[in-house]
Amino acid sequence: MGILRLAHVDITVTDLDLAAAYYTEVMGMLEVERDDTSVYLKCWDEVDHHSLRISYAPRVGFDLMSFKVLREDDLSDLENAVGKYGFPVERVSKGSSIGQGESIRFETPSGQVMELVHDVEKVGRATGSLNPAPFFEGKSGIAPPRMDHLLVTAEEVGESTKFFTDVLGFRVTEQLLDGDGHQAATWMERSHSPHDLAIVSGPNGGLHHFAYWLDDWDHVRKSADILAYNGIQIDVGPTRHGITRGNTIYFFDPLGTRNEVFTGGYRPDPDFPTITWTEDNIGRAVFYYEGELNDRFMKVHT
Ligand SMILES: [Fe+2]
Repeated sequence: MGILRLAHVDITVTDLDLAAAYYTEVMGMLEVERDDTSVYLKCWDEVDHHSLRISYAPRVGFDLMSFKVLREDDLSDLENAVGKYGFPVERVSKGSSIGQGESIRFETPSGQVMELVHDVEKVGRATGSLNPAPFFEGKSGIAPPRMDHLLVTAEEVGESTKFFTDVLGFRVTEQLLDGDGHQAATWMERSHSPHDLAIVSGPNGGLHHFAYWLDDWDHVRKSADILAYNGIQIDVGPTRHGITRGNTIYFFDPLGTRNEVFTGGYRPDPDFPTITWTEDNIGRAVFYYEGELNDRFMKVHT
């Protein structure tokens, strides 16, 4: 019951054709649909209509994060829970958004617009669902099987985390505490993965990055080859996170939004005890091999 997983991330770009070319040819996503202002994309193993919407706007930004709920009733249950917490909830009717039915939207305590949706158009995985190949041929670029998680920023990480756990049912897998014992960053899951959503201290409304799942380290190394070959600016990696234990590369799309490819980690059950990191270990917590953050780490879009 409740939230299943990340559904889609909606970002804005200042050059729709350039962004669409990058996300299809370098990232290797599939273009599902396009209208005057937006392009809808999915990864090859994803069944739902899209996991990324890129829309033209005069500035690069972050529109919303959408999560899928298991049952229709979860929408009204969570609508009530968010309302009771004191945040106004908007019902978005079927037909208003391409590729999905009715949804609810609200602003989180950290200023991101969050959407919850149940009814999503199924377009199917690229390999089909009858005797499918375990990989997808014929797509250039990294071609990750699916989207994985996102990291957003909040002025008050503790207050924001409390909203996601107490109201929306997220479970905290890991937390980074500052010198006063306050949460400076948290990692939370609904899908029995190390994180579906993470929050780090920063401006309200910000998007630090969204991440794609890769199946193994070989694919991470191949991704670094593809990024370098295409002249994409790599931010950090290939390396490993202490937090989540995942193998990773951070890099920027041509308009400046940070992307990540990610694999590994662990499989937390709902009784997984929260892992705690302290501020004096922040370098190894975030980039285990380097042991330090670079000066671009807090570059975010709102
Ligand atoms: Fe990440």
